[in-house]
Amino acid sequence: MDFESIRRQFPIKSRMVYLNNASIGPLSLPVIEAVNRFLADVRDNGRNNYPKWCDKADNHIKERIAAFLGARRSEIAFVKNTTEGLLIVANGIDWKPGDNVIIADIEYPSNVYCWMNLKRRGVTIRWIKTRNGRFNAKDIEPLIDARTRLVSCSSVQFLNGFRVDLGQIGELCRRKGVMLNIDAIQHIGALALKVSDYPIDFLSAGGHKWLTAPIGTGIFYCRQEALERIHPANIGYHSVRDKSEDDIEYDLTLKPDAGRFEEALVNFPGVWGLDAAVEIIAKLGIRRIEAHIMSLNAAAREGLLARKYEIVSPSDEKQRSGILCFRHPGIATESLWERLHQARIHLAIRGGALRCSPSYYNDGEEIEAMLEALP
Ligand SMILES: Cc1ncc(COP(=O)(O)O)c(C=O)c1O
Repeated sequence: MDFESIRRQFPIKSRMVYLNNASIGPLSLPVIEAVNRFLADVRDNGRNNYPKWCDKADNHIKERIAAFLGARRSEIAFVKNTTEGLLIVANGIDWKPGDNVIIADIEYPSNVYCWMNLKRRGVTIRWIKTRNGRFNAKDIEPLIDARTRLVSCSSVQFLNGFRVDLGQIGELCRRKGVMLNIDAIQHIGALALKVSDYPIDFLSAGGHKWLTAPIGTGIFYCRQEALERIHPANIGYHSVRDKSEDDIEYDLTLKPDAGRFEEALVNFPGVWGLDAAVEIIAKLGIRRIEAHIMSLNAAAREGLLARKYEIVSPSDEKQRSGILCFRHPGIATESLWERLHQARIHLAIRGGALRCSPSYYNDGEEIEAMLEALP
């Protein structure tokens, strides 16, 4: 599979220049076909293929996702979005009054409210004070004390595209005996990430951005060794060991893997689409995708600087990501956005800047079109 042929699978390309993948990625034809295949199966067969669906979801699709993330199949659960994964962790830890959690002051609200909500259980938040939207392990270390249970951060920040140093932060957490929880929705599908390379305990990512999977899908990773550190707050008939369907001998013995976090039927139609999307990304190769996206953003950066725009996102190569935020020193961001919008070029506004987020199906001509349309 190559970048050229995959572009033809994205009908959106004939309609507009879409550079807003950090908000919602458009669906490709193979993903829609996969969703429809599942729906047609239910249309034609009702529940008859249910055992096959479970086998496919739990064994084959989780296997593909696990391989993609450098995880084990048993460490993967399906969730409906990133927020659900964050909540599994927040509501699953056996907090004691006086415990604390460390987060940065620029996190997406999903990675804030779930911790704020623990106030009633006596848990406090210790805020990483970012400098110009950046932070590192040295900013976190002084915040850790004997009652710190967890550091929770996005590996790529939605506001400015800042990519955190997972190696450094992971090493700090391991040294201090603190759990590490990662919101990776702005990371996976755009940049390579192998969870086995870092001491990450939990990771969550919705499918609907860089993975170009349907809305309502997501991945939750729970490292095998961390499984017993959280107790599922939501328990249902899927959380427990498999039994025959007519068995009502209730036995709350949890599944021995991350499947315990799926309390009931998962979003099979969406998960079929997620599988097709991950298959495309895996076939293209995430390292090639990362190089492609980084080169599109590098071209955008160069053109913007030549036109005297200010780049808000980090310039340090190691801190760059699929997100490139910029603004003009003299022209309001809203009017730039409107101008691009009129030209059918779609970006987002975040933190008062334009946020450009090209994906694997975008190309250099689209970056050129954006540059040409800007004053
Ligand atoms: C960093 C980050 N985390 C979480 C979310 C919310 O994702 P979801 O709808 O999958 O919960 C977003 C959405 O923009 C995000 O950028």
